[in-house]
Amino acid sequence: MAISCPETSCWNRLPAHLGGIRDDGECHRNGILALLRNPAQVASLRAEPSGLSSAVEEFLRFESPLNIATTRVTTVPVRIGEVEVPADEFVMIALVAANRDLHQFDEPDRLNIALNPNAHLAFGHGIHYCLGVPLARLEGEIALGRLLARFETITLDDTATLQDRNSTLMRGLQATSVVDAARGAPLTSARQAPTAPHA
Ligand code: HEM
Repeated sequence: MAISCPETSCWNRLPAHLGGIRDDGECHRNGILALLRNPAQVASLRAEPSGLSSAVEEFLRFESPLNIATTRVTTVPVRIGEVEVPADEFVMIALVAANRDLHQFDEPDRLNIALNPNAHLAFGHGIHYCLGVPLARLEGEIALGRLLARFETITLDDTATLQDRNSTLMRGLQATSVVDAARGAPLTSARQAPTAPHA
């Protein structure tokens, strides 16, 4: 492949990435929000909990936590579709766009927790493919599974304002506000704002 990874982007990769993707399944928060907006799919997941891993993959596709991969540099001219990118150019790879590509997915703008195959690029591709994939998947499955098991009736809190936590690299939610309908009580999962913006 003629697109290299300069030393600078390798050095930047891990801290920028882990600064944004923290614990508690946070990187799946947007996906869980999308799920709660689709009550029929919540019901089907409750009826068939073995679909958890497929649901998490769809969260990663539909609401990719990383907007872009780290910057690459072309070492020789590269043709991408109809565009010729000269050598020594920076290239930004839009993972979110790739994951909504009509050539790859029949209905890219529809959440489908049963989508199979689901060849998304949320974890990148090739030599720098994410090293944390098993952990990230496990976190997502545990967070989603525990949420559905713990609250039998959970809906979005319509009165709450959703707070984005976006940067060039990352996309996410500062807080998700849901209601336990059985108790009528709001359950808000929130975090302190980061002290410094992400990359
Ligand atoms: C849902 C959560 C996660 C997503 C969406 C994600 C996504 C990505 C992506 C897209 C890349 C490739 C970046 C590129 O090609 O420039 C990457 C690389 C990487 N990720 Fe993750 N990641 C996640 C969680 C984690 C976790 C939990 C860890 C570690 C505990 C981790 C460690 C790494 C490392 C070390 C690399 C660099 C690999 C390399 O350059 O060879 N990631 N990740």
